[in-house]
Parts: sequence; C-alpha cells; structure tokens
Amino acid sequence: MGKPHVFITRRILEAGLKMINQSCDMEIWPENFPPTPQELKEKVQGMQGILCMLSDRMDGELMDWAGEGLKVISTYAVGVDNIDVAKATRRGIAVGNTPGVLTDATADLAFGLLLAAARRISEADRMVRGGQWKTWEPTTLLGADVHGATLGIVGFGRIGQAIARRAHGFDMRVLYCAHGHAPKELPADSKAEEVNFDTLLQESDFISLHVPLTAETRRLMNKEAFDKMKPSAILVNTARGGVVDQQALAEALSSGKLAGAALDVTDPEPIPTDSPLLKLENVIIAPHIGSASTRTRERMAVMAAENLLAGLRGERLPYCVNPQVYG
Ligand code: GLV
Ligand code: GLV
Repeated sequence: MGKPHVFITRRILEAGLKMINQSCDMEIWPENFPPTPQELKEKVQGMQGILCMLSDRMDGELMDWAGEGLKVISTYAVGVDNIDVAKATRRGIAVGNTPGVLTDATADLAFGLLLAAARRISEADRMVRGGQWKTWEPTTLLGADVHGATLGIVGFGRIGQAIARRAHGFDMRVLYCAHGHAPKELPADSKAEEVNFDTLLQESDFISLHVPLTAETRRLMNKEAFDKMKPSAILVNTARGGVVDQQALAEALSSGKLAGAALDVTDPEPIPTDSPLLKLENVIIAPHIGSASTRTRERMAVMAAENLLAGLRGERLPYCVNPQVYG
C-alpha cells in the first residue's frame, strides 16, 4: 500500500511538516490566501487526511467531496466552530485540535490588548507617528487604571483561568461567569469569584471573552449586554468574533455607552475596511494573532501533525474533539 494522501491547507511551521512528510504523500496549498471553498473541494478529493486552518469551513459536503477514505481532520487551532463535528462523527472521521499549547500565548495577548486599550497605547503611537507629540502635557491620553480595577471573565476554561492568573498579578478583582465552560478543577488558591452574567456585566471595568463560539454564545455580547455595562468599561475579545454583535458594539462605542474595545477576532475575518469600528479611536483591532508566537505555533504544528498521523494509522488521536467516533 502506498503512503496516505493528505492535504494541508496552508504552509504551517516546518516542525509539523517534517513529521508528516516522513510517512505521507502531502500536498500543501502554496498560496498566502486560503483556498476558496471550490478550490478546497477539488483539493480534498481522495485524501485520507486533511490538516486545516480555522479559516477553512469543513462541512458535510466537503467531507463527502473528500470521499469514503477520509479518516481524519486535524485543525491547526483550539476552536472548532469551522468544523461540523457532528457530521464528521457520523461519517466516522476523527477530528483533532490543539488545546493547551496556546492557552498562555492567547492569555498574554488578551492581557496585552486589555493594557493597550486601558492606557491607549495604540492611540499614543498613532499620535507620535502623526507628528502630534509637541510637548509633555498634563491631560493628554488619560486612560483607565488596570490595577485595582474589576475584570470580568466570560468563560472560565483554560484560557479564562490563565487570564485570571495574570489579573491577580495586577491586583485586579476578578469575577467570572462560566457560561457552560467551567473549570475542570479550580486551583485551591483561586481568588476569582463566580457571579451571574448580569452581575459580571454591571460590576466589571474590563470584560474579557473566553467562550467558544456555539449556538448559545453567538452574539452573547449584544445591545442588551452593553446596556448593562458601565459606560467606562472596556471589552476585550480574543475568542471568536461571532460572540459579539459587532453592529451593537459599534453603536455602544460611538454613543459613549462603552469606553473602548480591543478585538483580536471579528466577524467576518478579515474585518471589512469600511467597518464603522475602524473609524473609532477607542477601538484596537488585531488580525487574529492570539496564538502567534513562534514557540506556540511550533507546538501547534507538532500537535496537529500528531493528530493527523494517529488518525491515518487508525489510532486514537492524542487530542480528539469527537471521541464518540470510537464507538
Ligand atoms: C485560535 O483562535 C484557535 O482557535 O486556535
Ligand atoms: C484553551 O486551550 C481553551 O480551550 O481554553
């Protein structure tokens, strides 16, 4: 029997590709832009394995295009909202992801965005580059204190808990609301207080989102939620753009019902260049770089390769999203 055929939808870090190349006949999408849905359909035909990115939609139709031989879909991400996992399970396809290795990198970025929004770092940089730094001024770019403020964490899984640890170091009061994503085991010394969603909205100076995108969390942060928040509050989103109603957010920010937002994720991605959010000074937007440190992306590449190779050998994936596939 020949080597299994796999399609990799973008060039990931070499550490992962090297592992795959040893035992597979691999084809890598060569462009910087992802394949269109049509190109993807053509490419996956006859593949036993697919290694995809969070920007590739893996629906039932695509799985059928790949054909009966498809054994495994390994995503280079922790979030799996782009994959129809139930349909994969029904077809006997194992789905793997990369949990854990990107927890701290993502929490670092979330905290960085929080600090940048609170202390207006992006605005300050724009001001300096724009030649507006004329002298030291007592009232220029006044922001909000992070130390002593209250942080509300929505979703208290691995990343939510990692941001809590960072917040404790900044002497913040930390509230959380699990939203179905509760800690498996809470560290005994955790100083975070569990509250209901309304209390979290009302009492937090910063709110950071750490839930996956599901039917329950879609547009969780909507007009009703923004109305309950403090007008001085700042929203940080490093989860998924779909968790926020972006139009309601733009309205809340431009009408002064919310002080600021720092987003690493938007809906859609990339954010259209004419989005009203891009016109607002009190908004920071990063292009979905939560896990983008060299070491983290390397560990993700290895983990995604391990999942792919295990699936091709018919073994249990080390990080499996749908263990139901094993009976
Ligand atoms: C990034 O957003 C991921 O899900 O890995
Ligand atoms: C990250 O690994 C998470 O799912 O919280």
